[in-house]
This record gives sequence, structure tokens and C-alpha cells, in this order.
Amino acid sequence: MTSQLTASPAWRALQQHRADTAGRHVADMLDAARVGRLVLSLDGLHLNYAAHDVSDETLKLLVALARQQQVEGWRDRMLSGDKINNTEDRAVLHTALRQQGDQPVLVDGKDVMPDIRAVQQKMEDFVERVRSGAWKGATGKPIRHIVNIGIGGSDLGPRMVVEALAGSQSVPQVHFVANADAHDIQPMLDGLDPAETLFVVVSKTFTTQETLLNANRARAWLTAALGDDAVSKHFVAASSNVQAVKDFGIDPDNIYPLWDWVGGRYSLWSSVGLSIALGLGMDQFKQLLAGAAAMDRHFATAPLEQNLPVLMAMLGVWQQNFHDTGALAILPYDERLRDLPRFLQQLDMESNGKSVTRDGQPVDYETGPVIFGECGTISQHSFHQLLHQGPKALPADFIVVAEDDLGLPEHHQAVLTNAAAQIGALALGDPSAAVPQNRYSGNRPSTLIKLDRLDPYHLGMLLALYEHKVFVQGVVWNINSFDQPGVELGKQMAKALVSGAPVRPDKRLEVTATYDHWIKSRTP
Ligand code: F6P
Repeated sequence: MTSQLTASPAWRALQQHRADTAGRHVADMLDAARVGRLVLSLDGLHLNYAAHDVSDETLKLLVALARQQQVEGWRDRMLSGDKINNTEDRAVLHTALRQQGDQPVLVDGKDVMPDIRAVQQKMEDFVERVRSGAWKGATGKPIRHIVNIGIGGSDLGPRMVVEALAGSQSVPQVHFVANADAHDIQPMLDGLDPAETLFVVVSKTFTTQETLLNANRARAWLTAALGDDAVSKHFVAASSNVQAVKDFGIDPDNIYPLWDWVGGRYSLWSSVGLSIALGLGMDQFKQLLAGAAAMDRHFATAPLEQNLPVLMAMLGVWQQNFHDTGALAILPYDERLRDLPRFLQQLDMESNGKSVTRDGQPVDYETGPVIFGECGTISQHSFHQLLHQGPKALPADFIVVAEDDLGLPEHHQAVLTNAAAQIGALALGDPSAAVPQNRYSGNRPSTLIKLDRLDPYHLGMLLALYEHKVFVQGVVWNINSFDQPGVELGKQMAKALVSGAPVRPDKRLEVTATYDHWIKSRTP
């Protein structure tokens, strides 16, 4: 059955355009002038799309598709607090968390801004006390180590931001534990002094198995050393399930709430970012919010033709739906951004890994790509061969930072030069090499994002850029980017097994129980 989208005029026009330009090679268009011309900039973030197989006509048709799919209308609905997460009947308001003024944002007729400001103020007071040493542990020592316990959106975002911005010498030092496997938490606990350690348990639902396992392990470790009363000085939580946090035994004063309109993978801007603020300081956290807010304003107001997230999204649609690429490589050429690919995997694949439309119809087109990645230049020595010469021309995002903050130009220049060389090789190839195995068609698209420097403000912009890109693509594909029912099913099945309740005559549970048994039995 042909869906509304694939039968639509804008989609059909792009199909025709793709057929008409099938023999086109980016090498025919790419020259020095194009590299300088196909750039959109905002406050020190520059998006260079010269190495894409797009002409003015392609871009016009892509924007027409965005207009046809009512990207502007959906954007405005999201920003104004409409319940666009239709399956969960929720608003989607991570943008309110970083809004700079106090203009009201209404959900069910109630302004959410006063609650946001109250939690931010509470975070600020706590962060100041911990970082100044005024907050003492149970034995009177100041806190030198923070352990963030969470998983998914309650881990990947804060972890990536802290990795990017805190530096290894920061005090307090922030650590992250996510995996249910004790090889994650146990060696970490072994290296810490309970008297100087604060646990931040982050779980929107406070029902996530991995997080509760680790939080219980941490509490047992702490109380074995310092007694039960120590919990109130060494445990805080960020959650929307306040009752469950209290039941766990965390002091109600130590709870930093969030709300159901903050999606897990969009939550680092909320109290889920407490570990970021503890590691960097509240001023830096606010800068992160300010950078994201600048991108939000741009997204809300720039014409689609010059709108960075819209352009990035539509280039992705061109690749995914009209070149059938299926995957996207994320290549930060900066070691500090080493966790960005993992963060974007969740952001993109949990949001747009869907095959049913918002109104329940199966799709007949590709939706979200497989996201993978690694820091350049490390990636060059692992999977770039496939990018260069694999049968599919996979697109890649190159992310570079212009500033050499360490003042070590031999390293910095080497990294940037390698990024440039990869982009050029991917686009232009070496089609006339004498040896056939060396022949390389090129015509492999990439987007180049340059940050003037890597600071909280520019990182905030970058992350908001990706969030809105994912959103725009979800709108084009007519899917709900804000639920994750597949993930929920896996969670429920694990829970059913853990609970030990008799397995219902349900084939899924029977099969899962058999796997469970097989995995746990020792091979003789
Ligand atoms: O991985 C699935 C998921 O539901 C994510 O969406 C979420 O970020 C993660 O689990 C953690 O959930 P919670 O913050 O409720 O523990």
C-alpha cells in the first residue's frame, strides 16, 4: 500500500529529481567556491554542506517536502506545549528547560516556568554547597567524588557533557555507572572513599532495573562503612517519581524533580543534568542551556531555507530516502567529544527507529538511519575503509573544533587536516587509479560542523541542533519521535522473568524463559 507521504507531490518530485540526477557526481559541483558558499552559521557554529550531492534545485525540493509535511506547524506546536507525543498523551518541552526569559509556557493551562525555575534554584544552591565544601559527608569530610547512577537518557547526556567539558582534574570528580553488570560499579566503588562520595541517582521513572540494582549496591557499600544515617548526606536523586525515590530511602529534601513532558533522551537540560552542574559549576550549566536556547530561537524563527536543523534534517532525508543509505556515521574530530556518537545513537535511533506512523499506519519508506561513530582520527584506522569503498555511499557528519585550546598545534593541526583529507577523499575519490582495487568512485556525502570553540555554550548549540534535526525528520516521516514502545516491551519481559511469577501461557515469555535458562546454565 502506498502511504500518503510517498504518494505526495513533494515526495514524487524528489523521486523524479533523483532519477534525473542519477549520474551526478559531487566532484562536478565541488570546488573552492562551493566550500566557502554552502555554509550556514549561527553564533560560532558553522554547518558546511558543500560535500553533499545537492544543487539549488535539490534544496528547493527538499524544503518543499518539509513545508508539505508542515514542519513549521509541528515545530510551533512542540514549542508551545501541545501534546505532540500522542501515544503517551504528553507535551514535549525540553526547550522550556533552557528558555532564557520567563515567558509562560502552558501545559494543560498551567505555566511550567515557575516550577522549572524553582528546581534550577534548588540545584544551584546544592551545587554551590557541594563545590565550596560547605556540604559535608557523614564524617564531616567534603565531597570529592560524584557518582551518577542512571542509564539511557539518564546517563549518556550527562556523561557526554562532563567528558567534553570537565577535564580530568575537576573537583569534585564525576564518575558514571550505567550497566547492570557489576564490572561497571564494583571496581569504581573499590577505588572510592565512602566518606567523600556523593551518589546522584538519576531515573525519570525510578523503576529502571539497572539503575535500581546499582543504587542498591551503592547504598549497601555506603551504609556498610558509615551506617544507615549516612544516606541523607550521600544520596540525592533526579526523578519524576518522587514517591518511589522516598520509598528507596532518599531524603525528600534531596530530590530534584522533573516532569513527564521531559523525554529521557532530551533530559540533560533538567535536573537529570545535576551531575553536569556539580562537575562544571552552575554558571557553566547555565551557559549550556543558553547555547541550546540560541539554537531553539533560530529553529523557531529562521526561514526553512536558512534553518540549520531543518537543512541538516532534509539532507539526511535526501540520503536516507532517495539514496537508500540506511546509516549515518558520526565522526567528532575532537577527543573531548568521544561520547557524542553514543549519545546521538540514543537520541536518533530511540526517537526515529519506528515503522508505524503517528496515526498507526505502517510506513513504506525508510525512517531513522543506523547511527554509529567514533572519534576521528581513531575511526580512520577502523571503519573508514567501508566509508571509502564499501558498495554503499554512507553519509558522515564531521565535527571539528577550530580553537586549539591546549596550544599544541602539531596535534590540533594534524586532527583538523585529517578531517579535511577524509572529506575530500570521500567526495572526490580516485576514479582513475591504475589498479582496479584502488579505484574509488568518491561521491560520498558528508556534513561538516565546525565549532569556533568547545565550551558549554557551543556544545549546547550543537546538541540542540541534533535534537531538532531528529524532530524535523520525525515530522517528515510522520512518526512520533518521543515514545519508545519497543524498548518498553523488552523491559517488561525482563521484569516478568525477574519477578519469578509463573510464566503465563505466552509464547514470548516461554521463549524468553528458555533463553534465560540456557544463558545461565554452565556448559560442562
Ligand atoms: O532505554 C529506555 C529508556 O526508557 C530510555 O528512554 C530512558 O532514557 C532510559 O530507559 C532510562 O529511564 P529512566 O530515566 O526512567 O531510568
